[in-house]
Amino acid sequence: MGNPLLDSDHRILFDLLIQLFDATDTGQSRDVIGSVLSALSEYTEHHFRREEAMLAATGFPEIEPHKAEHRRLEGQVRDIVSRYQAGERGALDEQVVELLKKWLTQHIQVTDKSYRPWVERVVDGGVNPPSVA
Ligand SMILES: [Fe+2]
Repeated sequence: MGNPLLDSDHRILFDLLIQLFDATDTGQSRDVIGSVLSALSEYTEHHFRREEAMLAATGFPEIEPHKAEHRRLEGQVRDIVSRYQAGERGALDEQVVELLKKWLTQHIQVTDKSYRPWVERVVDGGVNPPSVA
């Protein structure tokens, strides 16, 4: 993305997804899988807040639909976590994991690219550089 903080967020999200696949593939305990899932859910929300703060700071015109997509994605992750915690069989079946992976990777690789030219122009144009700390 060109923003070091957001890039490292994305790497952490991918790492958490990989940990989740590993944990389910290798048949880890509910505690282990549950804690990876919670970390993924919390980090997703943390990252989205940070990205939204940056988009707001740069006055990105399409921020509302972008935020709406974040809320949808967060809701979906939270739903999977609560189904898993409630002991629902199949809460983490392959299709759900695939969906989660698609959502997160598609959002980061496609949707997030849509704001990049805007953010770069604002930063290059010498308008207050966005702060995402
Ligand atoms: Fe985003």
